[in-house]
Amino acid sequence: MNNCFRKNGVALFNQDCLEVLHSFPDESIDLIVTDPPYTTTPRGNAGNSGGMLQKKINKDGKVFTHNSITALEYAPEFYRLLKDGSHCYIMTNHIHLIEFLNTFTDLRTDEERKQGKKPYGFHFIKSLIWNKGNKIQGQFYMSQFEYILFFRKGRGVKINNCGTADILDIPNKKTKGADGKNLHDTEKPVELMKILIENSSQPNQIVLDPFAGIGGVPRACIQSGRKCIACEIDPTYCETMTELVESETLCKL
Ligand SMILES: C[S@@+](CC[C@H](N)C(=O)[O-])C[C@H]1O[C@@H](n2cnc3c(N)ncnc32)[C@H](O)[C@@H]1O
Repeated sequence: MNNCFRKNGVALFNQDCLEVLHSFPDESIDLIVTDPPYTTTPRGNAGNSGGMLQKKINKDGKVFTHNSITALEYAPEFYRLLKDGSHCYIMTNHIHLIEFLNTFTDLRTDEERKQGKKPYGFHFIKSLIWNKGNKIQGQFYMSQFEYILFFRKGRGVKINNCGTADILDIPNKKTKGADGKNLHDTEKPVELMKILIENSSQPNQIVLDPFAGIGGVPRACIQSGRKCIACEIDPTYCETMTELVESETLCKL
C-alpha cells in the first residue's frame, strides 16, 4: 500500500481508514483504542474540548475537514478485525454517547433486523472517565471530563492492572507548533493512551487506531513496546504524526 510509513512495528496510513481496514483479515487485531471524529454543535457545550475549539466549529458542526464518517460505517469493521476476548476503547462526548452505545452493542444491518436476527455486537463493560483537569465554560455545568467507552468482543478478559481506577486524572496537555498553536485541537495525551494500551494488551501485540490525528496512540505504543496500525485521512495531521512518531522511535534507540 502506498502513502504508508512503516518503522519498528508501527504502520501509519494517510488514507481513509475504511479502505485500510477492509484490507486486513478477520481477527487480526489485539486491541482498538480510538477517538473518532463527530460533528458537534456550534453553540453551547461541545463536550469534547470546548474553549478555543468552540470558536473553530463551523456552521455544519465541523471541527476537522473530515468528520462525516459515522459509527455505523466503522463499528462492524472493528468487530470483524478484533480477536475473541479483546478490548475496544472509544472516546466520545455526551452528545454521541447513546448513538455509540447503541451502535456498538447491536451491529445488525437493516436487512438482518427485518429477518429477525438476534442482536449481536460488542459487550459494553463500562465507561471510564478522563478527568482533563481543566474546566470549560458551558450552559449546563462546566465540562471537565470525557467518556472512554470500554467494550469487549467475545469472552471476558481482565485488564492487566486491576488496581487502575475508572477515573483517569491526566492533564489535558496539547503539543504546540513553532507558532505556539495546538498541532491538533483534540489531541489525547500519550500518558492516557498508555494506561489503556498497557491494561488491555501484551508487549508486541497489535493495537489499531483508525482515527489517529497526530498519533497519541502510536506514540504510546512505541513507549509501551506494542505494534501499531494507525490511519489519518488528513495529510497535514498525518505528516505531523509521522514526524512525532519518528522522534519517539529515535528516543527509544
Ligand atoms: C478526534 S480526532 C483524533 C485525535 C487524536 N486522538 C490525537 O491524539 O491526535 C479524529 C481524527 O480522525 C480523522 N478522520 C476523520 N475521518 C477519517 C477517516 N475516514 N479515516 C481516517 N481518519 C479520519 C480526522 O482528520 C481527525 O484528525
